[in-house]
Amino acid sequence: MTLRAQTAVVTGAAQGLGYAIAEAYVAAGMKVALMDIRGDILKQVSAELEARGGDVLPLTVDLSDAGETQAAIDRTLAHFGAPRVLAHNAALLITRSMQEITFAQWQKEINIILQAAFILSKAVWQPMIDAGGGSIVYLSSGSGYKGFVEEVAYNPGKHGIEGLMKCLALEGAAFNIAVNCATPGAPINTPMSASNYTEQQKERWVDPALLAPAFVFLARQDGAGMTGHRVAARADGKWDAIDLL
Ligand SMILES: NC(=O)c1ccc[n+]([C@@H]2O[C@H](COP(=O)([O-])OP(=O)(O)OC[C@H]3O[C@@H](n4cnc5c(N)ncnc54)[C@H](O)[C@@H]3O)[C@@H](O)[C@H]2O)c1
Repeated sequence: MTLRAQTAVVTGAAQGLGYAIAEAYVAAGMKVALMDIRGDILKQVSAELEARGGDVLPLTVDLSDAGETQAAIDRTLAHFGAPRVLAHNAALLITRSMQEITFAQWQKEINIILQAAFILSKAVWQPMIDAGGGSIVYLSSGSGYKGFVEEVAYNPGKHGIEGLMKCLALEGAAFNIAVNCATPGAPINTPMSASNYTEQQKERWVDPALLAPAFVFLARQDGAGMTGHRVAARADGKWDAIDLL
């Protein structure tokens, strides 16, 4: 199926992996709604993508805030109509122990990862049904299936989106909607990695653009294709799926 002239919603699109995904969707001829809290970078990113012929809608939004998240997806739907793909990539990882973290800090990370996944998916669900199908992708992590110290917010958030993905993949089958999680299958050079990787990991990190083909593949999926999987996006442009249902 062609993605040309179809719409993508990419969160956390100002930098890192989200930017690489948005770039790949523009290169595939898609219209792209770009959501990020960093309005300053988003402005520059939008200008870059428009200069390459992209039809983009930059939306400065704090995805930890339910009202702002709803308003951003409502604007997207009014502007572009039903998206072919929702790629919820934004996340915040602040390593803090249980003794250090406050409830407000915990809730912020959970809201960006899990609450926003729910609000965005709920908003596009009926439009995707009415359009005859679509694809939803949540960015997961090794933190989506195993524990790590000082990840008492990020880790349960990632476990949460894996659960939401499994339920929605089952419900989406009747409506031709694919729902998958994706995880970097290689260490990637992004601002998040810069703050959290060891020097040894940084020696092997790769440009996130190398992982982008997996997200183009996922945008093409619907209920008859790959759904209910965690997909590892590899640096050689390929991907592996782990069956999770
Ligand atoms: N970097 C890695 O090695 C790695 C590993 C596993 C999973 N992941 C996942 O991949 C995804 C992308 O990671 P990355 O390394 O590109 O991260 P990053 O921190 O470099 O980029 C995340 C983007 O999300 C945006 N964002 C943060 N808080 C926001 C908020 N409240 N509202 C709106 N936007 C907000 C940031 O401004 C940024 O543009 C994340 O979901 C992350 O958990 C990354």
